[in-house]
Amino acid sequence: MDYLFLTGASSGVGRELAVYLSGSYNLIINGRNEERLAETKALCKNDVLIWPYDLTKTDTLEEDLSTWIKGAEVSIVSFVHCAGLMKMMPLRSADSKSLYDTFATNVFAPELITKVLTSRKTNGKNLKSVVFISSNISNRGAAAFSVYGSSKSALDGLMRNLAIELAPNVRVNSVLPGGMITEMTKDLFSDENVKKQFEMNYPLGIGTPADIAPTVEFLLSDNSKWITGQQFVVDGGRTIDITERNR
Ligand SMILES: NC(=O)c1ccc[n+]([C@@H]2O[C@H](COP(=O)([O-])OP(=O)(O)OC[C@H]3O[C@@H](n4cnc5c(N)ncnc54)[C@H](OP(=O)(O)O)[C@@H]3O)[C@@H](O)[C@H]2O)c1
Repeated sequence: MDYLFLTGASSGVGRELAVYLSGSYNLIINGRNEERLAETKALCKNDVLIWPYDLTKTDTLEEDLSTWIKGAEVSIVSFVHCAGLMKMMPLRSADSKSLYDTFATNVFAPELITKVLTSRKTNGKNLKSVVFISSNISNRGAAAFSVYGSSKSALDGLMRNLAIELAPNVRVNSVLPGGMITEMTKDLFSDENVKKQFEMNYPLGIGTPADIAPTVEFLLSDNSKWITGQQFVVDGGRTIDITERNR
């Protein structure tokens, strides 16, 4: 039976993707919180296997995932990396622990997982398509975003390099969402002024996870079979807007 491997499935965008994509795929879902992963599973169709794991454990990730896949006897055709760590942090507060945890979750883990899923011994030649959930900060800049923003730029760099190295067997693309209200951003949006500012800056309004799911589905499917190494910005027009506004 063919499976889609999805990280970040215990919350926000990842949970929405799990539910949406479970109509067409069997799923292996990852996060750390087993209770919330079980809640996601209950919302899904088809077969859903849970692999709880802390993706910052980069020393053991490869071996543990390989062993689990072999034991579960599953063939994995698609991989969506949605897990992400975002802490707004001015430069003066940046430290090596925050940098490591952010880059481990957002960049090192998807590289190591893609390595496992393209290992002939572990998953044969089954993997066909990979989508990384990046962010529209990837090609831009914002105050207090040097740690998170640079991790998403690195994720997109990883995407482009893997797209070339793994062609023609595996396609690799990324989706760059703009602001959506989820666990990650609820504190930010609880401030009415910040919310108003966002609403003003988003020509199509603030998004929801449901707004990015169809793009992810397209990139996983054969409808995008000649597309690889690309960033798909899905942000309600936020990053192309150069209208002057009073700040
Ligand atoms: N929300 C936005 O406005 C927005 C905008 C642009 C891009 N994004 C991107 O969209 C993705 C999902 O964000 P979200 O808003 O849905 O955030 P969220 O609700 O905070 O969910 C983050 C997910 O990542 C998982 N995760 C975090 N650290 C992990 C770790 N060490 N090991 C395993 N799993 C880990 C969490 O699982 P556990 O808690 O179970 O560990 C959770 O499922 C992220 O990559 C984010 O950068 C979000």
